[in-house]
Amino acid sequence: MSFVGKAILSLGLGASLVAGTAIVVAADDAGQALLSRAQALFKPLPADAATPERPITPELVELGQALFFEPRVSTDGKVSCAFCHNPSFYGTDALPQSAGNRGRLVPRNAPTVFNTALQFVQHYGGNRADVEEQALKALTAALAYGNKDFAEAETRLRALPGYRPLFEKAFPGQAEPVTVENWSKAIGAYERVLLTPAPFDRYLEGDTSALSDQARRGLDKFITTGCAACHGGVTVGGQMYQKFGITQDYWLATGSQENALLKGRDKGRFHDTQDEADSFIFKVPQLRNVAVTPPYFHDGSVADLGDAVRVMAKVQLGRDLEKGDVEDIVAFLHSLTGEVPEVFARAPNLPAAAYK
Ligand code: HEC
Ligand code: HEC
Repeated sequence: MSFVGKAILSLGLGASLVAGTAIVVAADDAGQALLSRAQALFKPLPADAATPERPITPELVELGQALFFEPRVSTDGKVSCAFCHNPSFYGTDALPQSAGNRGRLVPRNAPTVFNTALQFVQHYGGNRADVEEQALKALTAALAYGNKDFAEAETRLRALPGYRPLFEKAFPGQAEPVTVENWSKAIGAYERVLLTPAPFDRYLEGDTSALSDQARRGLDKFITTGCAACHGGVTVGGQMYQKFGITQDYWLATGSQENALLKGRDKGRFHDTQDEADSFIFKVPQLRNVAVTPPYFHDGSVADLGDAVRVMAKVQLGRDLEKGDVEDIVAFLHSLTGEVPEVFARAPNLPAAAYK
C-alpha cells in the first residue's frame, strides 16, 4: 500500500471523496489486504455442523426440535432447553445467571445455542465434549432437568404421549428407540442446524460491501489489537482455552462477585479438573451474535458490549482503548449478528395425546 493510501485510511476518508484513480486503487488494495488477513483468521459458516459420526436427517431435526422445547422431562415440569435458550433472546435467557430447576440460581450465564456445535468443546469449563454429551448430561444436572439418574429421565421420556412415532421415524429399525442416548442424538442434530449466517460471512466470501466502513475499521482493530489471536476461526472464538485476567484479576474490571455454589471466585476449568494449573482458565467464547446476547462473561457481570470490549482489552491485553476504537470494534461485532433459523424462530406444537 502506498503512503498516500495509508494516510487516507488513517484519516478514515473513503476513497470516493478523493479524486485520482491511483489513490482509489490504493484504497482498494487496502480493502483487499484486510479481506485477505480476515480470510486467514476466520472462516464462513458451513451449511450445517453435521459430521460423519453425527449425521443429520429431517426426522432427527424434527424430533430434536420438539424435545428442545419439551418441559415434561424435568422434575419440576418447567425446565426445557428453551427455558434458558429461548427464541425471544437469540437462544439465551437474557439473564446474568439462569434460573434453573425450582427457580434455583445457576452460577453461570447461559450462552446462545446458535453455532455452538462448531465450538471445540462445550461449557465455559469445557466439561462437555460436544452438544450431544451436553444434552445427555443436562438430564441429570440438579439445576437443569433434576433427574436422579438416566433411568428416571428415560421413564419420564417414555411416559410422554405422542413421541414414540417420532422416535421410530428418527431411529428406524431399533427395537426400543425411546432412550436417553437417542434424546441426545436428536437434540444434537437439531443444534447442528442452528447456524446463523451473518454479514461477516458474506464479507469473508468476498463481498466487501457486506460490512460498513466502520465495521471494516473495527475488524482491522480487532485483528491489530490482538483480539483475533483468541477469538478466531469459524465461530470467532470457541476454539481454545485461555486465562481470563492475564494482566490483572478479572473481577477488578468486571465487578464479579464470589459465588456460594463455587465456594468463592469462579475459577473456570479448575472446577472441572481440580488442577490448580486450570485456575481462571475458561473456554474463549464464540462471538457470533454477541451484540444481541447480553449480558456478558461467564457470570453476566457486564451489561454493555462496549464495556465488555474495554474489559477485554484491559485484562487480556493490558490496553486502554480509545472511545473511537471501542465503537469501531462494536460495529464489527454487530456484523456477526446472523439470521435466526426458521426451525428456531418460534416454539413448535409439542406431540400430545388426543382426548378420547
Ligand atoms: C437452567 C437453565 C438451562 C437449561 C435448562 C439448559 N441450559 Fe444450556 N446452558 C445454561 C448455562 C448457564 C450454560 C453455561 C454453563 C457453563 O458454561 O458452565 C449452558 C450451556 C449450554 C451449552 C454450551 C454453550 C457454549 O457456548 O459452551 C449448550 C450447547 C447448551 N447449554 C445447550 C442446552 C440444551 C440442548 C439444553 C436442553 C437439553 C440446555 N442447554 C438446557 C443454561 C441452561
Ligand atoms: C488471551 C485471550 C483473549 C484475548 C486476547 C481476548 N479475549 Fe475476549 N474473551 C476471552 C475469554 C477467555 C473470555 C471469557 C471470559 C469469561 O467470561 O470467563 C472472553 C470473552 C469475551 C467477550 C464476552 C463474550 C460473551 O458472550 O460473554 C467479548 C465480547 C470479548 N471477549 C471480546 C474481545 C475483544 C473485543 C478483544 C480484543 C480487545 C478480546 N476479546 C481479546 C479471551 C480473550
